[in-house]
Amino acid sequence: MTSCTPSGNKGKTAEAAPIDGDTAGPQPLPTSVGNKDSYSRVATSLPFIALTFDDGPHPQNTPRLLDILKQRNAKATFYVVATNAKRYPEIMRRIVAEGHEIGNHTVTHGNLAKMSEAGVRQELSAAHEAIVAATGVAPRTMRPPYGAITTAQKAWIRRDLGYPTIMWSVDPEDWKKPGVSAVTSRLVSGASPGGILLVHDIHSPTIDAMPGTIDQLLGRGFQFVTVTQLIAMDGKG
Ligand code: NI
Repeated sequence: MTSCTPSGNKGKTAEAAPIDGDTAGPQPLPTSVGNKDSYSRVATSLPFIALTFDDGPHPQNTPRLLDILKQRNAKATFYVVATNAKRYPEIMRRIVAEGHEIGNHTVTHGNLAKMSEAGVRQELSAAHEAIVAATGVAPRTMRPPYGAITTAQKAWIRRDLGYPTIMWSVDPEDWKKPGVSAVTSRLVSGASPGGILLVHDIHSPTIDAMPGTIDQLLGRGFQFVTVTQLIAMDGKG
């Protein structure tokens, strides 16, 4: 009854999914994305990658980043912290209006692996509600702060909340402020088809690194899609 992936239907993806309002229950759950509990990359040979920005939105850096993305028609995914989402709802709405995706990165940015199940539920559901309140759009994936999460947590989070856990395939450790050129070279050299790139839009040097990074990756033939668009390519091509 609560299974998100009926097994009788192999080979065909569900199409014409009903509008969220059709789902039963007091609270709208996100429509489940993909069929795995967790992704650090997606299996495809097609030259698509997902650029993900964590911990914002930030009042100056995120709008500057959005300008850079818009100039290049590059789509990204923002794993926002709900306290920032509440503080900057106009930036949240701009992110959505410009075709990007928002994911759940909790309320307090704590270590989920060390929290009780009730605590994790509270973090994710309160963040979910804050994102919906700001944008009208439900987040469909989550990323645990610090990547800290257990296998058991991934399983029940997907089963009960509909979120696959999104990790990453490339981490340039931009939060250690290694310099603009190091962030760019780490991202460019680490990128591969189906890859998920992790950076943080709260750090100004990371934004400084984005024009060069994106232009180099475009020059190598990569195209930027959101995380749920990338997951839709899993196992195809
Ligand atoms: Ni984070």
